[in-house]
Amino acid sequence: MARHFLRLTDLTPAEARRVVDRARALRAEPDLAHRPFVGKTLAMIFTKNSTRTRVSFEAGMARFGGHALFLHSGATQLGRDEPIGDTAQVLSRMCDAIMIRNDSQADQQALADNSRVPVINGLSDLHHPCQLLADLQCWFEHRGDPAGRTAAWIGDGNNVCHSWIDAARMFGFKLRIATPAGYEPDADIVREAGASVELMPDAAQAAEGADLVVTDTWTSMGQEAETKKRLADFAGYCVDSALMRRAKADAIFMHCLPAHRGEEVSADVIDGPQSVIYDEAENRLWAQMALLEFLLC
Ligand code: CP
Ligand code: NVA
Repeated sequence: MARHFLRLTDLTPAEARRVVDRARALRAEPDLAHRPFVGKTLAMIFTKNSTRTRVSFEAGMARFGGHALFLHSGATQLGRDEPIGDTAQVLSRMCDAIMIRNDSQADQQALADNSRVPVINGLSDLHHPCQLLADLQCWFEHRGDPAGRTAAWIGDGNNVCHSWIDAARMFGFKLRIATPAGYEPDADIVREAGASVELMPDAAQAAEGADLVVTDTWTSMGQEAETKKRLADFAGYCVDSALMRRAKADAIFMHCLPAHRGEEVSADVIDGPQSVIYDEAENRLWAQMALLEFLLC
């Protein structure tokens, strides 16, 4: 049975730590002679835009001697309503792993249920687990083990937030989440995380004494029609220098990107000394190489 990675909790905490450790090693000492994926192909299905996810998977497969196949869903028969189960059956007879970025976690599950090879979530409406492997790697690299520390999520209780919630319980840190009313994260995901997670409406309270402050766009892909309302509803949730001053003096700032300067984060914070966003983005490469190695080797 293939192992899939549709949610961070599809790995045990020990496995996730192993993948993050391996990602750190790959980054610290890149070994171009290590080519475990010669002759192997990753199919990458996208129904949504991407810069980092596409490039990091494609570059990662190339570094490991393999090949990545970019499939824009609209240019495949998925765009003409071929069942996702049939797509999975066929792709998994030709390829060694499948990555999918789409809306629906349920469709990803259907893909996995019909696939002989590992299926990886490259973002759904509910989760973005690959992002968290990279983010955790980044936190370890900049400040050491997150266990016992506190992170503050400011803004929308969205897909990336859900994966941060999973990370908190798996890596033993506290996650304070500040959202406007009506934008809280999924109640079941929060419940599963137990005492690791605390919800509150006040951004300053969430940031108080935090080791890490993280945010994301207020309007995720697919929500563009709500942009105007969201801009109004999220007023007061911008991560600016006043909010960062509430956190620890050595707190780091993270954002999965793409960012909107002047909305969820001010330019002086995201482009300032506490920001680790480009290391975080780079780690998508190393973390997914480590993940692919874990799932395929
Ligand atoms: N953070 C992230 O997933 O970026 P892309 O949308 O560019 O892939
Ligand atoms: N929450 C964002 C993340 C983009 C990487 C979105 O879903 O659009």
